[in-house]
Amino acid sequence: MKELLKKIAKVYGTPVYVYFEKEIKNRIDNVLGVFEGINVFPTFAVKANNNPHLLKVIYNKGFGMDVITPGELYAAKLAGASPEKLVWNGNGKTETDIKKFIGSVKYVNVDSFEEMEIWKKKEANVELFIRVNPNIDARTHPHISTGLKKHKFGIPLDKLDEFLKKFPDNRIKGLHVHIGSQITTVAPFVEAFEKVSEVSKKYGFEKINIGGGWGINYDGKELDLLEYRKKVVPLLKNFKEVICEIGRYIIGPSGILLLKVLNLKKTDDKYFVVVDGGMNTLIRPALYGAHHGIKILEPTALSGKIDIVGPLCESGDKLAWDIEIELPEVSSLLYVENAGAYGFSMSNNYNSTLRPAEVLVKENGEIVLIRRRETLNDLFGTVQRTEIREPENPR
Ligand SMILES: Cc1ncc(COP(=O)(O)O)c(C=O)c1O
Repeated sequence: MKELLKKIAKVYGTPVYVYFEKEIKNRIDNVLGVFEGINVFPTFAVKANNNPHLLKVIYNKGFGMDVITPGELYAAKLAGASPEKLVWNGNGKTETDIKKFIGSVKYVNVDSFEEMEIWKKKEANVELFIRVNPNIDARTHPHISTGLKKHKFGIPLDKLDEFLKKFPDNRIKGLHVHIGSQITTVAPFVEAFEKVSEVSKKYGFEKINIGGGWGINYDGKELDLLEYRKKVVPLLKNFKEVICEIGRYIIGPSGILLLKVLNLKKTDDKYFVVVDGGMNTLIRPALYGAHHGIKILEPTALSGKIDIVGPLCESGDKLAWDIEIELPEVSSLLYVENAGAYGFSMSNNYNSTLRPAEVLVKENGEIVLIRRRETLNDLFGTVQRTEIREPENPR
């Protein structure tokens, strides 16, 4: 691993996201194994990672794609996804979006009464699933918890009757429920699916979309898939089709973020290890206080209390804090584990930094660049040039 990563850093530079095809495929097989015995249509949540090369690996294993925006639809199309394999989610669909998406997606998850007013007027050939809000606590971070009444998503279950009376539409094929992401216990899924399958039965729906949310091991806790299979699958077995939308579980542990140590700063009570990517490259720690394991490639003999920080102008620009590990050599490499999901897809250009490259290590060991590093031209190419002079030496 160490030699492989050193080679990648040498050829493509850092920061760089590195993904492993074998791990992606193994995790896909695990998902399919969990649902063995029921008619599942698995989709990948493109929001977790939109690199079309990765989407292609996942699509070629039989997955469809769950997309939210025209950008995600474009990524899925670049990966070769056909309309009957696409699910359209989102709580902000506009009339203009709907025009763009019609003909490109088969399944649509409708988020509100207001959205349904638009679909009512459209003769589109789509299967509609009504996103319901079961008022269940997913016991995850508040920002990625979506199934409580106070959240912006879906129609409260007790309003479903009113909804279905108001919109008698034979394109409505079932209900959709997604209560949150990074859920590490089975109980909230069971609670949600019990409620929603009971209601589905009442209305005679033969299909259901159960969303995603499988929690991975960032910090010792993860969803127990055997228990999930044992408790969840029986609740779903009477449906003719079960759609799921899994993102993080597939791509999170399949990717790492490789970084270079820029500086080691000693203070009275800790060391700051300054690396070349921070909350611009991986925002999860700064945004959610998320924990990611750190692996040092060239440790020194010293160890101590360490914060791994980025080079940006904000104290929140951290990847890990108060960890006790070996100190790395300056200019050596370290990597952030479980960085494949909501890593690149949430990256940004704060401090006018450039978004990183992405590399795929194929099953046969071949290393392929799947997204080049951004350039200043990518960053400033959209700025109107009127009355602005090109610098003579832009770098
Ligand atoms: C509607 C919907 N489906 C699927 C997902 C994917 O979730 P995860 O990456 O946790 O599997 C999300 C992400 O939050 C979502 O909002």
